Amino acid sequence: MDARAEHIPVLYQEVLAALAPRAGGRYIDCTLGGGGHALGILERSSPDGRLLGIDADPEALKIATARLEPYRSRCILINDNYINVGRLARERNFVQVDGVLFDLGFSTIQIESLNRGFSFRVDAPLDMRFDPRQEITAEDLISTSTEQELAEMIFKYGEERRARAVARAIVAERARRPIETTGQMTRIIERVVPKQGKIHPATRTFQALRIAVNRELENLESALGQVVELLAPGGKLAVISFHSLEDRLVKQFFAAEARGCICPPRIPVCVCGHKARLEIATKKAIAPSSEEVQRNPRSRSAKLRVARRVGVRPSP
Ligand SMILES: C[S@@+](CC[C@H](N)C(=O)[O-])C[C@H]1O[C@@H](n2cnc3c(N)ncnc32)[C@H](O)[C@@H]1O
Repeated sequence: MDARAEHIPVLYQEVLAALAPRAGGRYIDCTLGGGGHALGILERSSPDGRLLGIDADPEALKIATARLEPYRSRCILINDNYINVGRLARERNFVQVDGVLFDLGFSTIQIESLNRGFSFRVDAPLDMRFDPRQEITAEDLISTSTEQELAEMIFKYGEERRARAVARAIVAERARRPIETTGQMTRIIERVVPKQGKIHPATRTFQALRIAVNRELENLESALGQVVELLAPGGKLAVISFHSLEDRLVKQFFAAEARGCICPPRIPVCVCGHKARLEIATKKAIAPSSEEVQRNPRSRSAKLRVARRVGVRPSP
């Protein structure tokens, strides 16, 4: 890991305003990263608010553990995948919580790392795993998928219009020699995807590989379903996404959970029994201010959506 890299938390004030941490509250940060948002939650919930922090990346956990040292007695930090959030939270009695945060994707620390392979700007082994204990790397995906599978993956998760051409070029190259580094992969893409505007031609394919390697959309969908169960009435769910696939998933999840009866309109009396569990707090996603984008260009595609668990909190 590059010791110089530091992750600046995105939409920091907006997240804290949404979660409104309070003394005695309990919070779950599903994507602890460098611990930036977590630190704010712990500070604002002084003197006795508690935080359960999760990150799949052991390096991120180390950094966050050091940063949150002053609050050690009020937080539990776990190196695990947030797909297990329901079990992890129940085991530690983090139920009926006041707020849950997802700040999706990767951190600056990860993208600037010299050996993780997340960036086409750093020549590194094609790894891209958040959790190094996971078996499948990006190199494995590239060397074992068929041309059709590669094309579908690059199109679906990267929304790359030249997905077929990229897949064809990968298959042609790997017949000559193994594709092992981000540098090799970037050169293959540059040969078949024309540069358009400011976006580097490899951006979309790298996004697709990372999403596929880490099963990001499947994990997010499952975890969102689990955290709704963990929220107390009035508890807030805040999600920061960085690309349209994630944002669409979050938006659709919130909309489905905010709907009451889902019977077809021709049925006069409700038979489904479906009840809304969330109330949407952000009709339109919150975007960073132009000052934030200037200060931290990584924030430019961020979108924050917030929802509130419906119901009345039982009086103590
Ligand atoms: C954008 S960073 C979070 C930064 C953090 N909010 C901060 O202020 O420092 C996203 C983090 O989520 C982690 N992550 C991504 N997918 C995960 C998953 N399925 N389970 C657990 N952690 C995950 C990554 O390892 C990364 O550290």
